[in-house]
Amino acid sequence: MENRITLHGRNFKPLIPNAKLEEAIDILAEKINHDFEGVTEEDAPILLCTLNGAMIFMGELLKRITFPCIVKAAKLSSYEGTRSTGIVKSETVIKGIEGRSIIVVEDIVDTGNTVEAMEKMLFSLGAADVRICTMLLKPEVYKKQIPLDYVALEIPNKFIVGFGLDYDELGRNSKDIYVLDE
Ligand code: IMP
Ligand code: MG
Repeated sequence: MENRITLHGRNFKPLIPNAKLEEAIDILAEKINHDFEGVTEEDAPILLCTLNGAMIFMGELLKRITFPCIVKAAKLSSYEGTRSTGIVKSETVIKGIEGRSIIVVEDIVDTGNTVEAMEKMLFSLGAADVRICTMLLKPEVYKKQIPLDYVALEIPNKFIVGFGLDYDELGRNSKDIYVLDE
């Protein structure tokens, strides 16, 4: 793990090494596999990756999922720079979810605006069931009522990058997670 990384001229220091992330994903996947044990191809749930941040987490999770599942992706955005704008924008049309169980795969839940908007949208499109699966959660910030079914790790209310998460589109390719050091 690098001691420090710089993105757009700002400094980030190590927070979560890759090994710890993978270990947490192992445990989470085991729980999901247990909950969905025995599902048939006919009622295979949809794992819905929220782009772009959840890409790496989704890949790591998928490698560990053992039941029949369908993979889709959707793009919602609420962040500009290091702050949530509070307004969630949908940039994709999601098809083929009517009557299906959906597992929303998120990189991080912060205010919860994104998962709330996503859940609302999925139910309005006819989803039978929606569960939220997130790699990271900032529990000090999350104030919504939506239950977060699967959480790999909780982190403090700090701005982080790496393992798919970006600072204005940079830093996603770091395999470890770094925190803004200011
Ligand atoms: P929320 O809608 O406030 O819960 O924010 C969720 C989205 O904001 C996530 O899917 C991320 O894309 C982004 N986000 C939240 N916190 C961070 C962070 O610390 N670093 C990078 N992106 C973040
Ligand atoms: Mg983002």
